[in-house]
Amino acid sequence: MRKILFDGDPGHDDVIAFLTAAGHPEEVEICGFTTVAGNSSADNCTENILKIMDYLNLSYPVATGYNEPLCRPLDNAAKFHGETGLDGCLAYPDAFTRKDPRHAVEFLKDTVSAMEDEVTLVTMGPLTNIAVFFKTYPHLRKKIREIIMMGGSYSSGNMLAKSEFNMFADPESARIVFDSGVSIVLATMEACYSGALLLTEQETLKNGGKVSRLVYDILKYYSRYALRNGWDRTAVYDLTTVVYLLAPDLFQYRDMRVDIEVNGVYTRGMTVCDDRGPAYIEAPEQTKRVLLSVDREKLASLFFETLKKMDQWYI
Ligand code: RIB
Ligand code: CA
Repeated sequence: MRKILFDGDPGHDDVIAFLTAAGHPEEVEICGFTTVAGNSSADNCTENILKIMDYLNLSYPVATGYNEPLCRPLDNAAKFHGETGLDGCLAYPDAFTRKDPRHAVEFLKDTVSAMEDEVTLVTMGPLTNIAVFFKTYPHLRKKIREIIMMGGSYSSGNMLAKSEFNMFADPESARIVFDSGVSIVLATMEACYSGALLLTEQETLKNGGKVSRLVYDILKYYSRYALRNGWDRTAVYDLTTVVYLLAPDLFQYRDMRVDIEVNGVYTRGMTVCDDRGPAYIEAPEQTKRVLLSVDREKLASLFFETLKKMDQWYI
């Protein structure tokens, strides 16, 4: 059984990643979800994930974190996720469960401290909460088995030519986390794109059960950008983290040094992947596992099988 804590900015793809993990209770124990501003405000992200949990009678503690990056204003991704951060699900009932009253950092401290064994952090947004958690409670870093993180790229970008949103939004926090000494598995944009879901595959969810129809509605909104551009697939970025958690052998990766650019005008938030080899690694903790691609067919099969299984829970 793998104990995990989610930190993210739900967010259509964050929600889909969360649901996929929730669909494997025999393998994954979700110990909580902390929200951070990114796709929308931290409060909206909290409301969004609680709304999904309540709709499916799933119950996990949710704590709200930072509503802006460490050192700069939030440059949010509303144009992709809508003003609420989960547009496309406005018809679904509002949450009735109240969030945990603690700040995300205090929730993380209390939860990790109380655990007997190690926990895996699955991060899907800017790293503001995690950076402050590591800086405020450094002794707890040793209880983190690894961070499986959606963020960065080997060489591409979606905010700038070489910068991915989660790193771009809060590069100072990203640098703190990358320099923390905690093991990191980086689900790069390249890995996410190689595991993109076909629009035709997404259509099959329309006549499925309760969970499939919810995911259909989420993807319908999330994929409008792909449709508008004539693409035949959508990279459900954050899903990649949970598929790695469940089936790491589906991925191709390289272990290499990765540093975060903080000050670049054209490279703010760039994950600088140094593939020159071991001679350029000054300390072992500089090495990250950089996911580069995935077996798309097997990822899609795992994902759709999970939804089919979850549909049975609500009959
Ligand atoms: O760049 C993609 C990432 O930014 C995803 O985590 C998405 O949810 C947004 O947070
Ligand atoms: Ca996200």
